[in-house]
Order: sequence, then structure tokens, then C-alpha cells
Amino acid sequence: MTAPNAQPLQSLDEWEDDLKTRYPEADKPAFLATDPEKKKEEFRNYAKNARPSVREFYRLNHTYQSYDFVKAKKADYLKLNRRQMTVWEAAEYLNNLVDDSDPDTDLSQLEHLLQTAEHIRQDGQPRWFILAGFIHDLGKILCLYGEPQWAVVGDTFPVGCAFSDKIVFSEFFSANPDINDPKLSSRLGVYEEGAGLGQVDLSWGHDEYIYHVVKDRMPEQALYMLRYHSFYPAHRELEYNYLMNDHDREMFKWVNAFNPYDLYTKNHAKPDAQKLRPFYEDLISEYLPGKLSW
Ligand SMILES: [Fe+2]
Ligand SMILES: [Fe+2]
Repeated sequence: MTAPNAQPLQSLDEWEDDLKTRYPEADKPAFLATDPEKKKEEFRNYAKNARPSVREFYRLNHTYQSYDFVKAKKADYLKLNRRQMTVWEAAEYLNNLVDDSDPDTDLSQLEHLLQTAEHIRQDGQPRWFILAGFIHDLGKILCLYGEPQWAVVGDTFPVGCAFSDKIVFSEFFSANPDINDPKLSSRLGVYEEGAGLGQVDLSWGHDEYIYHVVKDRMPEQALYMLRYHSFYPAHRELEYNYLMNDHDREMFKWVNAFNPYDLYTKNHAKPDAQKLRPFYEDLISEYLPGKLSW
């Protein structure tokens, strides 16, 4: 099966805008389960109104993000032998991402990173938290290496075990080859009960990539934010608890703390990158100095 390189989304932002439709800001605190009947109805409305481009994006994502696909991408990218760049250079490189977003209303990639980080900073959060905000989407440079949108963004989910029916557009998993494998489609799949997320392969994308680039240099809370910020099936839908251990559950408080900064800061005023640069260069040199391997 060859995976297509189709790019149904107008821009990567279209996925995040869609997340806001699914998880509106009023919905917080996110980790409190809502009435399941209401939830079902909300989802029906969401699915009915979802843009065709978003639907097609998830169809591709759910069809091709198989266990073998993820293993192959990890084996390739996690050698981190593609580029040597400082964090600021990576942010500028990511800003080359030219898609069909509207330059008048949409933020550039760098602006989204700065806006997320600035909001975290204004709330008086620790410096590593601000830095996590600044770097959280740098893994989207996968697009610049030629990866299709569905292998860069999208809600992430475990592969190697059954797909939760709470994953958005879960019906599209019917085309995923793993669904025909008795082991890979079983509840535990290749994992053990409560094994811990560190043992679990999630669908491939920008979260896992940035996590590996910085994993030896940032506090663990930041690493959880980076690695799991798109894991909506867990941090919003509370699925896959059976793969987590107590430490994951403890650390997911930080993933939950991060999520609103990522989703709900987009409409604020555009940050001034050149004015903010000295602060961020200083912050980068504190935790992530010099050139990193990407
Ligand atoms: Fe992201
Ligand atoms: Fe983001």
C-alpha cells in the first residue's frame, strides 16, 4: 500500500481551527467528563458540519497511520541526522512553510509559537514552561521535508492496539490495515496493561519529533507537554487510561495545563518577533544552547 501525499487542508492551521470547533473554550476544564448523551449529540453536529477538507485529512490520517508506518518513520527521523540548527534557526526555518493560509488574518508559524509562549509568560509560569510554548510546534518542519499533512499534524493516538471509538472520525479506521490484524486490533495489542506511555507508539507527527530533539535537556513536565499536546483522545477524551501508569497520570496535569495556551491564544494581537527575540534567545541559551540535531 503506498501512502498518498495529498494535502487536503488549506493550511496546517485548518486542523487547529477545527480542534477549537470540537473543543470550544467554554468547555474547560477539559478533564471533567461531560454528559455522554450531550457529548454524542455534540459530536454528531460536529461531524455534520466539519469541512470536507478536514474530513478528508482525517480519512488519510486514519487510513495510513498504521503500526508499521509509525515504526518506519521513527526509525528514519529519530536518527536526527537531517539538520543542525539552533532553536531560533529552526523557528525561522519553520516560518518558510508556505501554505494557503491567509496572511492578513492568520498567524505565521513563528507568530503562533511566540503568542503561545507570551501568553504562558504573562501568566507567570516557569521559564521552562514558556520555552515549551515557544518550541512546541517546531516539529512541523516535517512538512518542509516533504511529509504529507496527515503525517505531521492531527490528533495523535496509539498504534499497535485497538483504536478508540472516541477518536475523531474513528469510522475511517476501517481502512487502516491494522484493523485486520488480530493482535494489533486487540485492546492491549502489543502492550501490557498500565505499561506507561513511554512504551507506547503514538501516530507519527510533529509532537514525537520535537520531543526527541530536546528530550535530554528539558524538565520532564515540558517533555510531556511537547510529546502529548496533540493526544486529544487521552487529554480530552480520557481514553487509553489502561495504557498509562500513575506517573503518566500525574504528568498529564501539565499536558492539560498547556493545552489552553496552544488552542485559545490564536486570536490575540500579533507578537513582534524582532522585539521579543532577545528574551527568547536568552531563554533558549538557558536550556537548549547551540545547534541541536534535527
Ligand atoms: Fe502542535
Ligand atoms: Fe500549536
